Amino acid sequence: MKKDVAYLKCIKCGERYSLDEVTYTCPKCGYDGVLWFEYQYENIRIENEESFLNKWAPVFPFETLDGLDFRNLFPSPMYKNDNLSRFLNIPELWFKDDTRNPSGSFKDRASLFVLKHALEKGYKKISLASTGNAASSMASIGAAFGIDTYIFVPHTIPKPKLAQLVVYGANIIMIEGKYDLAFDLSIDVSMKFGWYIRNTGFNPYTVEGKKTVSLEIFDQIELPDWVFVPTGDGCILGGVYKGFYDLHKLGLIEKMPHLVAVQAEGSASIVKAFEKRQLLPEKVNAKTIADSISVDYPRNGIMALEGLYKTDGLGIMVTDDEILRAQTILGKLGGIFAEPASSAAFAGLMKAKERGIVKEDERVVVLLTGNGLKDISSIKIDNIKVFKDLDEIEEYIKKEEDKDGL
Ligand SMILES: Cc1ncc(COP(=O)(O)O)c(C=O)c1O
Ligand SMILES: [Zn+2]
Repeated sequence: MKKDVAYLKCIKCGERYSLDEVTYTCPKCGYDGVLWFEYQYENIRIENEESFLNKWAPVFPFETLDGLDFRNLFPSPMYKNDNLSRFLNIPELWFKDDTRNPSGSFKDRASLFVLKHALEKGYKKISLASTGNAASSMASIGAAFGIDTYIFVPHTIPKPKLAQLVVYGANIIMIEGKYDLAFDLSIDVSMKFGWYIRNTGFNPYTVEGKKTVSLEIFDQIELPDWVFVPTGDGCILGGVYKGFYDLHKLGLIEKMPHLVAVQAEGSASIVKAFEKRQLLPEKVNAKTIADSISVDYPRNGIMALEGLYKTDGLGIMVTDDEILRAQTILGKLGGIFAEPASSAAFAGLMKAKERGIVKEDERVVVLLTGNGLKDISSIKIDNIKVFKDLDEIEEYIKKEEDKDGL
C-alpha cells in the first residue's frame, strides 16, 4: 500500500519527490507539473482476491481501504449491446458505464480518493473548480462524509448539475467567466483559507482515483485494443493511461491498449497538439455544447499527450452535431442516456470506424462518463405534441407507424 509508493514524479520535468514533500504540483513547473505516483512495482504481488479493493490495494496510495467501499462505486458495470455492436459492426464493443455512479459521473472515482486523503490529513474543508461533474461529485461525497465543500463553477453550468450542488449543500461560488478562470480563482482563494484542493490536473490523487477504471476493465474483459475517452482537461485520459501503465509495470499485460482522446472540435487542445506531435497542449478559445469537455487549456494535457504517444493512440475531433447524433444513437439503439460530453466518445468511435482505423475484429471500450440527465439543454423537448382526445392520438399513431429509422 502506501509503503509501496516509490516516489512522485513530475510529468513535465521528471523531478522526483517523496510523498510528504509536496502536496499538489511540482514546485519547479507550477500548474503544468502534475505529479504521477510511481510504485515499487517489483515488490508488489497482485493476488486473485474476490474483492476489487482488496485485490488492487497494493497500487492504491493509502495504508488502509477504509472508506473506499463507498456505495458500490468500484467496479462500475461493463456491458455489450447487440444493437450498437451491429450498428458499428464491432462484435466486441464494450461500454464502461459510469453514468450510474453515486453522483452520476466518472468523477466519483477521483473525489473518493481525494476525500480519503483529505480525511487522513485531517482537513475539514475541500474546494475545487469544475465544469460541473467533479463539482457535484465532490459535493455529494463530501456531504456523505461530513466534509464542507467550496465549489467554484462557471456561471454557464447546466442547471441539473447546479441543482445537485444545492441539494448536497455545497458552498457554491459561481464565477462570471469560464472554467479556466474558476480554476485560477479557486486555487488563490483556497490557499488563502487553507482548504484542501481537489482540482483536476492539480491534485495527484485524482489520477490515482481515475486509474481504477483501467484496473476494472482488466478484471472485466482483460485487454482491449482500444479505449475511447471523452477528453477536456485530460485527467480521465491520464488516469486511464496510469491504470494500464501500472498493469504493464506489474507484468499483468504485455502491451497497453491504444488510447483515444475524443474532443469537441471547438475545444480540441489536446488533439491539435497530438496532430503536431507536441508535448504541450495548445491554448484554444473553447466553445462546444458539451460543457464538461469545454476547456481552453487542459490542466492535465501533458499526461494525456504522453498517454496517447506511449500507447500508439489517437486524437479525434468531433463536431457538436456529431456528438448529438451519437447521443441519439446511444439512446435509441442502446437505451443508454449519456450527456453530450460523454457521448463524444461514441462519436469518436463512429468516426474511427468509418475511417477504417478501428477494425471489426478488435475489442473496443467506450467510456460512458456522465449521465444524460445532467445536461439536457440540447435535447429537443419543447416541440412534443400535447393531445386532447382519442381521435388525435389515433391519427398520430397511424402517421408514426408509416415512419421508421433514426
Ligand atoms: C462527463 C464527462 N466526460 C468527460 C470529461 C472529461 O474529463 P477530463 O476533463 O479529465 O478530460 C468530463 C470532465 O468534466 C466529464 O464530466
Ligand atoms: Zn517539474
